[in-house]
Amino acid sequence: MAALIHLENLTKHYQMGETMVRALDGVELQIQPGEFVAITGASGSGKSTMMHLLGCLDRPTTGAYWLDGELVSAMTDRQLAVIRNRKIGFVFQTFNLIQRTSALDNVSIPLFYARVTRVAELARRALDRVGLGPRASHAPSELSGGECQRVAIARAIVNEPKIILADEPTGNLDTRTGKQIMDIFHELHQSGVTIIVVTHEMSVALQAERIIRMRDGKIVEDRPVDRAEKTRGEEATEPATPDREPSPPMARRAKV
Ligand SMILES: Nc1ncnc2c1ncn2[C@@H]1O[C@H](COP(=O)(O)OP(=O)(O)OP(=O)(O)O)[C@@H](O)[C@H]1O
Ligand SMILES: [Mg+2]
Repeated sequence: MAALIHLENLTKHYQMGETMVRALDGVELQIQPGEFVAITGASGSGKSTMMHLLGCLDRPTTGAYWLDGELVSAMTDRQLAVIRNRKIGFVFQTFNLIQRTSALDNVSIPLFYARVTRVAELARRALDRVGLGPRASHAPSELSGGECQRVAIARAIVNEPKIILADEPTGNLDTRTGKQIMDIFHELHQSGVTIIVVTHEMSVALQAERIIRMRDGKIVEDRPVDRAEKTRGEEATEPATPDREPSPPMARRAKV
């Protein structure tokens, strides 16, 4: 199977006065369609830089990036914007929603760029998939942190991207709410979406199928998660209180 993501000797350097910061320093990576990958590593190890490059928000200093068979590292900004809109959904630690704008309108934004019709219908369907249909008219200030992140996920999936990139998606949430967010990623993964999550929490990383650890801009470990380890990770995230809400309902299958 052709890799969905293929990085070859990728670097990203920032010149800061006299010094050169090697945010990414010769990264080789392949991710297959349908994988669920966690990226971990100390602060400053290059995780966000990697996500920006994977998400076509930025271009490498040197090296090659093939996304879905296309050499995106050689594309213009305009071409990258089209790829982002079609193929990638982003979820950030701080949600990055537009304040004073309803959940429905926040979710609609990528559809405007994609120039599709039936905007309201598709946005509402995406909100339903994360269990937030009843909150469609609420602005972010009227929603909890977990609900805001679910709106952000609805916005990320509304164009039915092949890849979801999430940078510390549970970082601003309590353990239980974080678990609900991870459950949504699991359901998206089940429906065929490729998921890449940056996290510094081992209990979150263990929910993926594969863990990549970075240090000083390099991949220093890349390994599968075994089942026993995964179970221990799930137990670690189990909330102490028994009054757990069920995870939000989702559509059975996403079109991918
Ligand atoms: N725009 C920039 N200009 C200069 N240096 C940068 C820039 N962005 C990142 N860096 C540097 O690149 C390195 C990697 O940063 P990056 O944000 O990718 O780390 P990270 O692993 O995401 O860290 P954290 O866990 O704190 O989010 C750091 O040394 C950082 O200071
Ligand atoms: Mg970061």
